[in-house]
Amino acid sequence: MIFEQIVTGGCLSYLLGCPERCAAVVIDPEASQIDRYLGLAAKDGLRIHYVIDTHTHADHFSGARALKAATGALIVMNKLSPFPFADLRLDDGEILKVGELKLQALLTPGHTRDSMCILASDRVFTGDTLLIGGTGRSDLPTGNPGQLYDSLFNRLLKLPPETLVYPAHDYKGRSHSDIGTEIASNPRLQKTDRAEFIAMMEHLDLAAPTHLTEALRTNLSGAKTVAGLLAEAAARVPFVAMDDLAAALAAGNAGYVLLDVREKDAFDAGHIIGALHLPRGQLELRVNDMLPDPTARILTICEFGRISTLAAATLRDLGFTRAAALDGGVKAWREAGLPLVGG
Ligand SMILES: [Fe+2]
Repeated sequence: MIFEQIVTGGCLSYLLGCPERCAAVVIDPEASQIDRYLGLAAKDGLRIHYVIDTHTHADHFSGARALKAATGALIVMNKLSPFPFADLRLDDGEILKVGELKLQALLTPGHTRDSMCILASDRVFTGDTLLIGGTGRSDLPTGNPGQLYDSLFNRLLKLPPETLVYPAHDYKGRSHSDIGTEIASNPRLQKTDRAEFIAMMEHLDLAAPTHLTEALRTNLSGAKTVAGLLAEAAARVPFVAMDDLAAALAAGNAGYVLLDVREKDAFDAGHIIGALHLPRGQLELRVNDMLPDPTARILTICEFGRISTLAAATLRDLGFTRAAALDGGVKAWREAGLPLVGG
């Protein structure tokens, strides 16, 4: 079995491959790592057949849909998953064949209602049901500490003690554990009484995960994250360096129609000389009047360099085929000591 663990901050994802049949599966893909999964599969001559999300993640952005778009792989989830784009919904005990590899779904609700673990010969991918030295929390939407107890003590911990444990998260840089070690030393698993376990889980008093709302929104809908939207725009827009624009302005010709897309207050407080003002919120409404020449070189400018990227992408969508964005924004321009007018 070809096995790769991909670490993204505290998120762990996995690529498993069958070398005989050139088939691969990715478990709990992270949205920013799509090119890495594709590269790893290509390195070993594998085609990704399946993408498995062990549950609806509230703490990272799933790359399942993007990976499916890139490979045609089927998205596999628990039969109870609310995700509208799941292609295969597994019931308890069902087996997925990936070439010669056999992956068995163990439905383990508790962290979420749609949590499942994936057993693959000597190892189990535990999602957020069992972590190294911990368990997933049970206080997020659809979580249930009683179900988590049952899934752990009556299911997962009954696997052979030598079974390797590969979780979806570890924040201390550890790669894996095994069932026997977790039974012996995982602090949460020392509460073997169901009522005591539930009481412990109900009093953890954890802070909400960062990006909770965006993770649930995008993971439940399959839609893009804000970072993904920005990355897509940045990938199809050319940029102009601040120093190059400053030098061109000093020489008397910017070479571009400068278009400041910030709000009026920010524009009035200081803008690059010669810049036209068209707030991004009014871009589509006023673009025909303000920019009659679609062949003009237009350079969008904002405060931080992100909204200007979106604006340049929008202008390109509208047929301004030479629109570009300033690399950096007025904030960086000001901090570089470059000249502004107004204010
Ligand atoms: Fe989770």
